[in-house]
Amino acid sequence: MTFRALPGFRDFAPEDLAFRTHIFAAWRRVAVRYGFAEYDGPPLEPLDLYTAKSGDEIVGQLYNFTDKGDREVSLRPEMTPTFARMVAERANGLKKPIRWFAIPQLFRYERQQRGRLREHFQLNCDLVGEPGPLADAEVIALAIDVMRELGLAHEQFRVRVSDRRLLDALFTALGITAEQKPAAMQMLDKFGRSEYAKAESAFIEAGGRVASVEFLLKELRQATTWSTLLEHGAKHEGVAAALAEEHPLRETLAALEAMGLGDYIELDLSIVRGLAYYTGTVFELFDVERSLRAICGGGRYDALLASLGGVDLPAVGFGMGDVVLGELLKERGLRPDAPPSVDVIVAAVTPDDMPFVLEAAHALRDGGLGVEYALAPQALGKQLKLGDARGARLAVVIGPDDRAQGAVMVKHLADKTQTAVPRDTLVAHCRSLLTLNG
Ligand code: HAM
Repeated sequence: MTFRALPGFRDFAPEDLAFRTHIFAAWRRVAVRYGFAEYDGPPLEPLDLYTAKSGDEIVGQLYNFTDKGDREVSLRPEMTPTFARMVAERANGLKKPIRWFAIPQLFRYERQQRGRLREHFQLNCDLVGEPGPLADAEVIALAIDVMRELGLAHEQFRVRVSDRRLLDALFTALGITAEQKPAAMQMLDKFGRSEYAKAESAFIEAGGRVASVEFLLKELRQATTWSTLLEHGAKHEGVAAALAEEHPLRETLAALEAMGLGDYIELDLSIVRGLAYYTGTVFELFDVERSLRAICGGGRYDALLASLGGVDLPAVGFGMGDVVLGELLKERGLRPDAPPSVDVIVAAVTPDDMPFVLEAAHALRDGGLGVEYALAPQALGKQLKLGDARGARLAVVIGPDDRAQGAVMVKHLADKTQTAVPRDTLVAHCRSLLTLNG
C-alpha cells in the first residue's frame, strides 16, 4: 500500500518550505512596517459562520462535517469571518483604527488547476474603525509594497480597483432598479465569459433592459483612470451628473498617486468580487500578462462586524495567497536559492581527533553558528564534501599535528585557502570570518 498527499494538498520539503518562509518573511516585514499586529484564530469554525457570511461560491467549496459532539463545523475557507468575529468581541477595548494581520492556512474544495489548490496560505491585512478613503489607500499600498519587497516592479503587476458604491450610483443613473442591480452586477462580472448569458437572462427576468447596462459594459468599462472615466461618462447626461458627485474611490486613487504608487493602479469597473460582504472599494492584484489568476483580493466591508452581533465598525482589508504569488516569483526568476543549512563543517583527520571535533563543534554552536560534522569516521575529503553539499562556507579541520600546537586549521571551502588558528580563539575567528563575508 502506498500513500500520497491528497489532490490539491502540498508537501513542503525543506527547499519548498524555505521558499514559503521567504514569502512569509516579506509579508511580515511589510505588514509590521504599516503598524499591523499579528493574530491567529481557530482553523475549525462553526459552519454557520461561513454559510451566513461568505459568498455562495465559497460556501459550495467548504470542507465541512459533523463533529463527535454533533456540531456542524468547517475548516476555514477564508479568514475574514473569523477576523470580524474576533474584532467584534474585543473592539471596545482596542484603540482605533485596529490594524491586524494573519497568515492562516485556508481550505477550499476547488477543482485543482494552475494557481488553485485545496489548501493555501493567505496574508490577511485588515483595518477596522476608519470609514474614510485613506484607509482603503493604506491597505492597497500595503499590498503593493509586499510585491515590491519581493522584487516585483510595476511592469509586472497591477492593482485593479473599483467601488460597489460607485457602481450603485452608475446603475441608478442608467435607470436600473434596486431589484435588477444584483443581476446587472453579475453581467459586469461575467462580461466576455461563458457565464454571461446566464447573468443576462436573470437581469431580463428581473425586468431589466439590456440596453441600459450597455453603456457601462461597453463604454465606462474601458476607463482605467478617473479622468478617462469622466471623459467616457460625459457621453451620458445622467452618468456625467452621477460622476460629478463626491466619490471616495476618487480620493483613494488620489492618495495612492500622492504616495508615488499611481503606476501600479488601474481603475477597472469590471472588478466586482464574489464575496457577499463587500460594501465599497473592491480590488484585485494581477500579473500584467494576466496569465495567472488574481494574486490578491480585498475591499471594504462596513456591515460585517455589526452583523456578527458585535460593534458597528467599518472595515477594509485584503487576502493575498501564496500559490499564485509563488508561481509568479518562480516565473520571474525571483525564487531565491535555498539558504545553506550550516555555516561550518568540522572534520577529523584521524578517528582519534573525534573528541576534539565534538568539543569544537559544540563550542561553535554555543557561539551561535550552524555546525555539522560526520557522524561516523570518514576520509577527510568526504567530510569536506558533506560541508560543500550543506552550503558551509568554512571547514574546521582538526588533526594530531595542529592539535599538538594547540591549533586547528580553518579552511574557506570556496577558494580552499586555509590558516592555522589557536583553538582558544576559534569561535571568535569563525564568527568574524562569517560576518565579514556577509
Ligand atoms: P479571495 O479573493 O477569496 O478573498 O482570496 C484572496 C486570494 O487568495 C486570491 O486572490 C488568491 O490568490 C488566493 N486564493 C483563494 N483561493 C485559493 C485557492 N483555492 N488556491 C490558491 N489560492 C487561493 C478572500 O478570501 C477575502 N477573505 C479577502 C479579504 C480579507 N477581504 C477583506 N479582508
